[in-house]
Amino acid sequence: MTGRGEGSEATGFRSRTAGGLRSSDAGRTERLTGWVHRRRDLGGLLFVDLRDRSGLVQISFGPEWTEAESLTEAHKLGSESVIRVEGEVALRPTEARNPELPTGDVEFRVQRLELLNPARTPQIPVYRGPDEDLAAEELRLKHRHLDLRRSELQANLRLRHDLVLATRNYFDRLGFLEIETPILTKTTPEGARDYLVPSRVHPGEFFALPQSPQIYKQVLMTAGYDRYVQIARCFRDEDLRADRQPEFTQIDLEAAFVEPDDILGWIEGLMAEMAATAEIEAVPPFERMTHAEALDRFGSDRPDLRWSLEISDWTDAFGSADSKILRNAVEEGGRIRGFLLREGARLSRREIEELEKAAQAAGAPGLLWAKRTDDGGSGPLSRWLGEGEWELSGARPGDLIVAAAGPDAMTSPALSAVRGSVIGAMGLPAERDHAWLWVLDFPLFEEHEGRMHPGHHPFVLPHPEDLDRLDEDPLSVRSLAYDLVYNGSELGSGSIRIHDPELQRRVFQALGMQEEEIARKYGFLLEALASGAPPHGGIALGVDRLVKDFIGAGSLRDVIAFPKTTAARALFEGAPTPLGAAEMEELHIAPLRRGAGVPAS
Ligand code: AMO
Repeated sequence: MTGRGEGSEATGFRSRTAGGLRSSDAGRTERLTGWVHRRRDLGGLLFVDLRDRSGLVQISFGPEWTEAESLTEAHKLGSESVIRVEGEVALRPTEARNPELPTGDVEFRVQRLELLNPARTPQIPVYRGPDEDLAAEELRLKHRHLDLRRSELQANLRLRHDLVLATRNYFDRLGFLEIETPILTKTTPEGARDYLVPSRVHPGEFFALPQSPQIYKQVLMTAGYDRYVQIARCFRDEDLRADRQPEFTQIDLEAAFVEPDDILGWIEGLMAEMAATAEIEAVPPFERMTHAEALDRFGSDRPDLRWSLEISDWTDAFGSADSKILRNAVEEGGRIRGFLLREGARLSRREIEELEKAAQAAGAPGLLWAKRTDDGGSGPLSRWLGEGEWELSGARPGDLIVAAAGPDAMTSPALSAVRGSVIGAMGLPAERDHAWLWVLDFPLFEEHEGRMHPGHHPFVLPHPEDLDRLDEDPLSVRSLAYDLVYNGSELGSGSIRIHDPELQRRVFQALGMQEEEIARKYGFLLEALASGAPPHGGIALGVDRLVKDFIGAGSLRDVIAFPKTTAARALFEGAPTPLGAAEMEELHIAPLRRGAGVPAS
């Protein structure tokens, strides 16, 4: 990362950066600044790795070239102290060169040392030997100012910068305007809870932090700003996982007079540029699949296509087998689906039990399985499989069948979980490193516990071919919504929106909302739609997820400077914090009743 786009390395304190020195600098006198990374004290000679954001250089102190006072001071230097050194760049003897370090051909001979700020012993080591593990994550988050000094995190944040910069330039070239939308706002539904901010001047009233800029970007379209983009902060109070943070960033865009292909094409172009920056592969056009097909073939709306392993449908093959479980499942409108695993018979019973556990954790009562042998089969499913069923299954001796029987809504998530587990259990090699996919035509609505919910958010345009079923059979209505999936991770999500206020009202009604609620929550949007809204659509991509998936990091915390824990806490600064009685009063918030329980701090 040396010098890339950094302009002049010099400041009032230094003439060069530590990581920028090369053999061509030999003989030059320079001033460097930075942190004491690692020290090796050989008695007379002292070697220090001096670190700044650009990298490391070895600096040396010795009686022949270092002033006496500086030499004495140098032997007392503690790790992570901040120093300034003045001296000469010297070529290292050939045998002392370090090809792994960009500055490895030189060493910096210090004439004068200035201790700018001593550091107390760091609570977690910044320098780690080759075999040393990282400190526990909780400790690293608590001492984030030290953890952020690690070169891995610095490289991640650098890549994040590069990707966001590429994004801004890309959309600028396409004529998009970056427009900021409010952070103190009204609720923006994206399926999570809102973070709320009490209003001091309006007792009992609250702002919501935006779950996304969704409504504002649509209003911008009605106002004629026909290409909008924003690197937008979003806030969602939801259960956290490795790929979710309560506060995250989107590349959010919206455009007027567009069809899905316009948006998909723009995003494919952006991904190709970003992928080049991140040195991964993205070659448009990306594969496309409908939501229904993705569930049918892979059991998931974000299948990882690095592996081609697909679900087989054995409803016809096994549906008339002499088994109550199988026959009942089919009679009740379900299917018998699963995976045919070539040479899967080598999996042990315990490994198959692990697959079954994955299926159960995803909601299936169990997993049926059978191994095909030379003279029949083994395993619970095999007792129902005669020669005819085996023939139809496509299995050969040595193969394994794992299957689930029942309604797709139950078997799809289970089979998706089994797919992931079986790939691991069998050690199936990925057939490609980078799998890009568009999933199209998501259902407009979903039903949970007897209530209708938007498949995504309530502003998505119903698929024109399905519009006539909106009132009678809303759950069968598809939408013009699309997701971008990379290696099984949902990077982005978008849709064409409703621009007709009457249709928008019908969708709100289909979601069970009464007139009063519609007017209170979305009156301003309907008003905007009724005053000349162009057809429009857009998408939002998760920046944190993009960076994480591009570098293959395990967690979003590795690509966010100050992330929250999975318990939604900021450990470094210690947030959230309890509020004192006086502050609560000022904000018109009543303290919890005695005995109602105060959240643990
Ligand atoms: P959606 O809610 O699908 O769509 O979000 C879009 C993308 O944002 C990222 N994302 C997250 N990243 C980290 N932590 C989270 N908690 C989190 N939640 C979402 C994901 C996701 O694909 N307004 C719509 C977009 C639109 O319709 O234009 C929206 O926000 O990568």
